[in-house]
Amino acid sequence: MRMLRAEDAEAVAEILRQAPQAVFWPEASVKEVLEWKGSLGLVIEAAGKVVGFLIGRQTTEEAEVLNLAVAPQDRRKGTGGRLLQAAVEEFRTRGANRVYLEVRESNAAGIAFYEKHGFWKAGRREGYYRDPVETAIIMQKRFEDSRER
Ligand SMILES: CC(C)(COP(=O)(O)OP(=O)(O)OC[C@H]1O[C@@H](n2cnc3c(N)ncnc32)[C@H](O)[C@@H]1OP(=O)(O)O)[C@@H](O)C(=O)NCCC(=O)NCCS
Repeated sequence: MRMLRAEDAEAVAEILRQAPQAVFWPEASVKEVLEWKGSLGLVIEAAGKVVGFLIGRQTTEEAEVLNLAVAPQDRRKGTGGRLLQAAVEEFRTRGANRVYLEVRESNAAGIAFYEKHGFWKAGRREGYYRDPVETAIIMQKRFEDSRER
């Protein structure tokens, strides 16, 4: 695992093209987000190729997973879990007390994945997503939760 760099933006956009459950960001958006204050970008490579990435950001005590995807042929091998765990640990080290994210209501795999990692459904936002329009489920993890220790 290593930090996501601007030159990975093309590979990230390519993974996102194959992940309609996630929000699509073209290369320029990937690069832009990396410039944001408090941003965190991680990638995992296999055979020299980026197969999964996570982009998040932190504003003092709150951290958000903004985007996370693994290439279809590389799923269910623990890659997403390693990325999420590393990000959560980094946010915690930086002083966050809560990590949250939005996920499409129909994304049962994503919801199961986050629940496995100790995230709980904390709310919903009607019509949050576009193409297609869909409700977002807000999931969060608080560091004082005993299951985290
Ligand atoms: C969600 C995603 C990132 C998970 O990545 P991954 O590398 O496949 O995840 P892992 O291999 O670490 O899975 C860890 C656990 O999550 C759960 N999980 C993952 N995919 C699942 C699925 N399709 N159905 C049910 N549970 C699933 C399982 O409990 C799994 O453990 P197991 O394989 O031992 O059963 C990946 O499916 C993906 O890229 N999806 C498309 C984009 C997306 O939905 N992003 C998240 C919303 S923004």
